[in-house]
Amino acid sequence: MKVLGIETSCDETGVAVYDTEAGLLGHCLYSQAALHEEYGGVVPELASRDHIRKLTPLIREVLDRSGLQLADLGGIAFTRGPGLIGALLTGTSLGCSLALALGIPAIGVHHMEGHLLAPMLEEKPPPFPFVALLVSGGHTQLMSVQAVGRYEVLGQSVDDAVGESFDKTANLLGLGYPGGPALAKLAEQGDLNRFTFPRPMTDRPGLDFSFSGLKTFAMNTLKNNGDEPEIKENIAAAFQQAAVETLVIKCRRALRQTGFQTLVVAGGVGANKCLRKLLHIEMEKVGAQVFFPSMEFCTDNGAMIAYAGALRLAVGQRDKAELAGRPRWPMEELPAL
Ligand code: KG4
Ligand code: ZN
Repeated sequence: MKVLGIETSCDETGVAVYDTEAGLLGHCLYSQAALHEEYGGVVPELASRDHIRKLTPLIREVLDRSGLQLADLGGIAFTRGPGLIGALLTGTSLGCSLALALGIPAIGVHHMEGHLLAPMLEEKPPPFPFVALLVSGGHTQLMSVQAVGRYEVLGQSVDDAVGESFDKTANLLGLGYPGGPALAKLAEQGDLNRFTFPRPMTDRPGLDFSFSGLKTFAMNTLKNNGDEPEIKENIAAAFQQAAVETLVIKCRRALRQTGFQTLVVAGGVGANKCLRKLLHIEMEKVGAQVFFPSMEFCTDNGAMIAYAGALRLAVGQRDKAELAGRPRWPMEELPAL
């Protein structure tokens, strides 16, 4: 079955076709970053309007590139939540109406399940069960994953998501939007020994995170040392190291707690090179294996939605045509396959 995947939860319009027999046939992504840049963050109404403009041409492009017609599709998957309600509605409405018109099933996909399953698109997919570290602009979660749809939250951020703290700190350093990748790039030129940032909540048991303090620490460091040369580079380096080490400490703890030997990292911050490097080193030390999606499927994309939807459609799960978006949606509510 060939499944069209549509991602419109935030500021990327992603479209892809996944074939349950042949794998990923094609995908296209349009980033709205330039549209939101002058506002320093995503403007929800502008995001919705832009998804409407881009969705239909992107669907045509993906079908053309894959050598397919609409009639070849066997199902449609779209991001139902979590995300911005207006943005979600664009993909949900188009997905449902297209499925209705074509007489094929549709399914609303959980955006974070899409992220979590993205490493399955790689040549060497992770084996179940595993611990998943989901790190995006809106989520920081450690999950126990027994199988598709069998998820248990082990810990999560009590305040800012780690991606959000990268973005806010980047903003403070005048790096614009989206800040995460820009901060990571600046950090490469920084001196790791100039400042030491805290590793929040690592001095007590548990798997929860708190990232809002790191941004405040960065703000105070900048205020107190503003005249120093390379201050921004040094803050970026110290911030990134602290955020990444905090994630790594909790990943090690989650593996110990579950007894699992496989770690899967997904979501936008999974593209962070420092995180990827440190996790590879640390997981090797404890005899665990770590899996990441390819860089292009770490951040939002249509392929992960097409894939997650295809798995569910293939076992007969589907949604009704009048489905509404779900801005908030706990992943533990998802059914097993
Ligand atoms: O998964 P994603 O594309 O969208 C959400 O679902 O939120 O994640 C976006 C987040 C943003 O906060 C962005 O700054 C962060 O991922 N991000 C990074 C990097 N690339 C993206 N953070 C740190 N280093 C990166 N290389
Ligand atoms: Zn995402």
